[in-house]
Amino acid sequence: MQKVTLSLILTFAIQFVSAQQGGGMWLPNRLNENEMKQMGIKISARQIFDSEKPSIKDAVAQFGGGCTSEVISPQGLLLTNHHCGYSSIQSHSSVDNNLLTYGFWAKDFDSELPNKGLKATFVLDIQDVTNQILDGVTDSLTEEKRNQIIKTNIEKTAVSLPKESWQTVKIEPFYNGNQYYAFITETFEDVRLVGAPPSSVGKFGSDTDNWVWPRHTGDFSIFRIYADKNNRPAQYSKDNIPYQPKYFLPVSVKPKKLGDFSFVYGFPGTTDEYLSASALGQIIDVIDPARISLRDASLKILDRKMRENKEIKIKYAAKYASIANGWKKWIGELQGLKQTNALQKKQAYEAEFTQFLNSHPKEKDKYGNLLASLNEVYRNSHRYVKANTYFNEVFYTNSETFRMAVFLLNLLNNKTQDFDKAKESVKGRILSIYKNYDADLDGEVSAKMLSMYSLNVEPMFQAAGHENYEKEETAQLFLSDLWKNSLLTGKKGNLIDSLSSKSREQLTEILQKDPVFSFVKPYYEVHANKITPNYYVSQDKTDSLQRIYMKAQLKAFPNKKFFPDANSTLRVTYGKIDGYSPRDAVYYKPFSTLKGVMEKYVPNDYEFDVSQKLIDLYSTKNYGIYAQDGEMPVNYLATNHTTGGNSGSPAFDAYGNLTGLNFDRVWEGTMSDLNYDPSICRNIMVDIRYVLLIIDKYAESDRLISELKIVK
Ligand code: ARG
Ligand code: ASP
Repeated sequence: MQKVTLSLILTFAIQFVSAQQGGGMWLPNRLNENEMKQMGIKISARQIFDSEKPSIKDAVAQFGGGCTSEVISPQGLLLTNHHCGYSSIQSHSSVDNNLLTYGFWAKDFDSELPNKGLKATFVLDIQDVTNQILDGVTDSLTEEKRNQIIKTNIEKTAVSLPKESWQTVKIEPFYNGNQYYAFITETFEDVRLVGAPPSSVGKFGSDTDNWVWPRHTGDFSIFRIYADKNNRPAQYSKDNIPYQPKYFLPVSVKPKKLGDFSFVYGFPGTTDEYLSASALGQIIDVIDPARISLRDASLKILDRKMRENKEIKIKYAAKYASIANGWKKWIGELQGLKQTNALQKKQAYEAEFTQFLNSHPKEKDKYGNLLASLNEVYRNSHRYVKANTYFNEVFYTNSETFRMAVFLLNLLNNKTQDFDKAKESVKGRILSIYKNYDADLDGEVSAKMLSMYSLNVEPMFQAAGHENYEKEETAQLFLSDLWKNSLLTGKKGNLIDSLSSKSREQLTEILQKDPVFSFVKPYYEVHANKITPNYYVSQDKTDSLQRIYMKAQLKAFPNKKFFPDANSTLRVTYGKIDGYSPRDAVYYKPFSTLKGVMEKYVPNDYEFDVSQKLIDLYSTKNYGIYAQDGEMPVNYLATNHTTGGNSGSPAFDAYGNLTGLNFDRVWEGTMSDLNYDPSICRNIMVDIRYVLLIIDKYAESDRLISELKIVK
């Protein structure tokens, strides 16, 4: 018996080691040039990142907070995903002039459309400031004291670093707070919409194809950065001029083949690759199942309503997409974790770690209790994590009426902020809910959510004084009464008017009488008083233990390559173009073509329609220089380790030419955020030749094509 376990552990351990040979999101100033060369890169690390001379990094910008974009012309032309530009494109759309449906191509500079609040941020330099930030920090400090010292050190260090007046310093923790880096950045605030394909190209396959390979989406849109007369960042002004970048990307139409070197440069959001088995267990057993089941229920209602009613279909399209995006990812994540034995691998790894401690008494003194402590903290936090997940999904993400109540409760409860300013911001958020809100539909979703909360959350986290709504019909009946008489649903009075004109006292009085507001209040209070405080206490403990565990892992496995988890800072990931085998007897090739678009074509379908012009291009094979072997490339796969935030990231060949635009991952590999496995984790990119075909032959925008530097 013992033998079997040991050999199992060893098998997993070996797999784990080989799994580590792929993947990684590396800081661009600390690249392993040798390894990259061995894998096939032909340019130097300095060409990728140089803080003194122009380099590729000067063409890579964080886009709108959550995406990546790249400069592709000497006049500041900026490429990103369609789904990253989506809300900007939507904001210029109306029923009569629907840019989402028909696409948009500015005919000249003057027709390029400004977007309030849209920003593009470049990184100018990266510096290791670990010593400055951890100065005075010792192991014996309490978490609170430690955080205080670090906060002061960050403030001190940030002002001490040389920068120009229009630049910003951001200091971020790496390896769970064991290292710190400073980023000198420059943010442009005049970013205009230049071009977008119709949704039938940019969002082809929509939710059905989301996270899925084979894929056929032209997920791109084009913007332009404008600067002041000195080529510096400036607020929007009609006098601003196209930005002249330090560097812009050449675009390659060269053929691609299996095994080609590929690297991706961008701003990945969050990964958690070094968690303990206990932490991973909590995601598998508690967090993912809760989120999936709630969203599953809410999406079923949305889907039915959207099919029944055209207007609702438009109103709820973006919301559906965003709720479904997480839902589908987490389902894939759970399956992938199971399929790759992620938990067993973590356990095997922990066995190795323990072995290391056993042979190093000094380290054992320090870290001997670590895994047991992590186990205990996670075990004890399950209930708070579960309740918190339920609260967020029920009262925030899925029910918009409950969310409005939460906004209002936050507004009235926070006595330290400037009330009028906060009220304006709440008003803006509620207005943006109302833009696409259907009270009856939301009533149905809210009732379902409420019944699931009643059914699955422990009694101590239920709102006192409320009867139980486990039965959906009871919840439905009860809420429909509240809905009829509430300001929030718009059925009785006008919430926006009240928000515009009333003082804090008046608003409090009005809302106290509102049935929806009053109903949500005790739930909000349970969350604030019983869930959140415990949740934060356990969060603090796990943060601190995870930081120590990370440090211990770095010590225990000096030969293993540890990349720092993603944290929305600039990273490079490298690998090769490659297919994968998701199941027994199935192999997916890494290239898709326009032929596949036509195979999926369903006339007038909202996900799989194809416009006549693209059909014509396909039937005449009018692909120009963009074809490969007579076919028109559309999407392709590589082993680049990416995550949310990498959307819009440039993908390069070995020479640093732009070859594609990252936009997604394959479903079987979405667990890469927790357990990257090179055997099935693949990122999905739009082939740049498809982007060029659409600009050139579909939009016939010669002016854009002529700005580019095309490598043949
Ligand atoms: N799954 C991709 C990423 O996470 C694309 C999402 C946008 N597309 C969509 N159909 N919702 O975020
Ligand atoms: N689609 C993601 C994004 O929007 C990328 C990913 O999660 O792979 O950033």
